[in-house]
Amino acid sequence: EIQAIIFDLDGVITDTAKYHYEAWKQLADELNIPFDWKFNEQLKGIDRMASLEKILSQLPDEGKSFTLEQKQDWATSKNMNYQLLIEKVDESEILPGILDLFHDLKQAGIPAGLASASRNARTLVRQLKVEPFFDVIVDPTSVAQGKPAPDIFLKAAEELGVASRYCVGVEDAEAGIQAIKSAGMFAVGVGDADTLSDADYIVAETSQLSFYDIRRHFVG
Ligand code: G6P
Ligand code: MG
Repeated sequence: EIQAIIFDLDGVITDTAKYHYEAWKQLADELNIPFDWKFNEQLKGIDRMASLEKILSQLPDEGKSFTLEQKQDWATSKNMNYQLLIEKVDESEILPGILDLFHDLKQAGIPAGLASASRNARTLVRQLKVEPFFDVIVDPTSVAQGKPAPDIFLKAAEELGVASRYCVGVEDAEAGIQAIKSAGMFAVGVGDADTLSDADYIVAETSQLSFYDIRRHFVG
């Protein structure tokens, strides 16, 4: 039986994946580096610095000639773009079906955790007013390795006091699904079935997420 559900934030609870894209796009344009939706797919779930490295690796020099300070400035610049874009995010931007799912979990007595790689996650959770639905919010700075490593999902399970095999992870990114699987959890993917093919159960949109359907498919 399922004993806990651990959620990603960006692209699962709210459509901030599009704001991350826009914020990176602004920086990439300034640096004259090609950047499109397809490339952005690889950045979903990946932390800020690692994302920047992937973008810079497109340059002929492999980006190796930049100082750490320069890279930190670019990462900060992306984050400033992002923070402007999410300034007005409120509960109207919670994705369809998510609140119903949260209510069903509460009713079933299933605790929920948040395993977002974003350092802006707590701010968004507050703006979206979904704080009461989470028993645990993992601080991404407290884990050694970002997704696709399992660390953040394992930390959430540990803080919830639930063994991995009784946990379900919900993700919209390939790196996220890999993290859930490496953590030994049941992976629910939201989005494109080809991109998320390693997931145990896939829905195209959040509106199709239902606790009862997940429970029916759950193998733990
Ligand atoms: C999430 C998003 C990524 C983002 C990462 C770090 O995983 O899917 O696109 O790069 O968080 O976010 P941050 O807000 O800390 O830059
Ligand atoms: Mg995501």
